[in-house]
Amino acid sequence: MTIISQCSTSAIKDAASSLISGNLVAFPTETVYGIGADATNKDAVARIYAVKGRPTGHPLIVHISSVDLLEKWAREIPEYAVKLARSFWPGPMTLILPRTELAKDFVTGCQNNVGIRVPSHTTALALLKEFEVQGGAGIAAPSANRFGAVSPTTVEAVELEIGSYLSPSDQMLDGGNCEVGIESTIIDCRYKNASILRPGAVTFEMIQEVCEITIDPDLKNSLEKKIKVSGLLESHYSPNAEVHIYGIPVKGDGLIALDSIVTPKGVVRLANPKTIEEYAQILYTAFRLADKKGLKRVFVVPPTGNGISVAINNRLIRAAFNKVE
Ligand code: TXA
Ligand code: MG
Repeated sequence: MTIISQCSTSAIKDAASSLISGNLVAFPTETVYGIGADATNKDAVARIYAVKGRPTGHPLIVHISSVDLLEKWAREIPEYAVKLARSFWPGPMTLILPRTELAKDFVTGCQNNVGIRVPSHTTALALLKEFEVQGGAGIAAPSANRFGAVSPTTVEAVELEIGSYLSPSDQMLDGGNCEVGIESTIIDCRYKNASILRPGAVTFEMIQEVCEITIDPDLKNSLEKKIKVSGLLESHYSPNAEVHIYGIPVKGDGLIALDSIVTPKGVVRLANPKTIEEYAQILYTAFRLADKKGLKRVFVVPPTGNGISVAINNRLIRAAFNKVE
């Protein structure tokens, strides 16, 4: 497996043709790094599951370069979904829609719907455009981490997570630090109104400006609708260290909190973001730092309020599953 640090036009061409040949390519998006395969290639997609150690049957998001290609993958697209796509794509939002013939069972986890996203990271968009020029229809890409672990937001983190599971012909594209830092907002567009399945940087308030939205106060209800969103499993996004969202850290524990919160004596400060956006951006790096330092416990002071705080709290609760006191 090769790490490509300068994503020149020829490097992008090479990565796209490698995908067409059935190899895997890890690439940066504005949310987190993804591990990509040709979404129409059954064997290549099967390798994603093996590399991640992800149970088969969990659907993958298909990435495309433009809203204009949405109808290739999705049908019965409600007007509000088109409005959302035109408002927030390219960007950190995934739409769940009824699938076309192109979206096979091996991508959708045998569901009749498909998750579609147009990422905004320049490397991701360049790769998608070139992949489409070379005849590809879409890149299936989950976050480039082992199942249940923390999503990578740097190429070094991708290597740490899955590097040893990749083949020599696979590639990793380095696009620097991910700007958003947490995974895309997933919006279910199969019903009369939109509903959020996974909160992200496209916030409830932003969506509400565009269309009617069903409030689902308990996101776990979605599981009862028999829609498979692995990010909704209780324990997810977890570092090795125990994550605590209540309680007071003592000497030797880690702490992640907004800058205004002081570090108790002897506690290891892992991050001190100044804004909630910065909090989202550095959260997973701070989790990884805790593991690098061999800390046993990390205390997080969750941000309050609306906006991206909702998504940060969603990830913190899952990271702290079983450890909430
Ligand atoms: O920001 C992101 O969304 C990143 C980047 C790489 O695009 N991708 C990502 O993929 O987070 P993944 O697979 O780690 O998480 C996507 C979630 C999974 O929980 C999956 O079950 C859900 O989206 N999902 C994908 N397709 C779906 C579908 N057709 N129906 C319901 N849930 C779906
Ligand atoms: Mg993931």
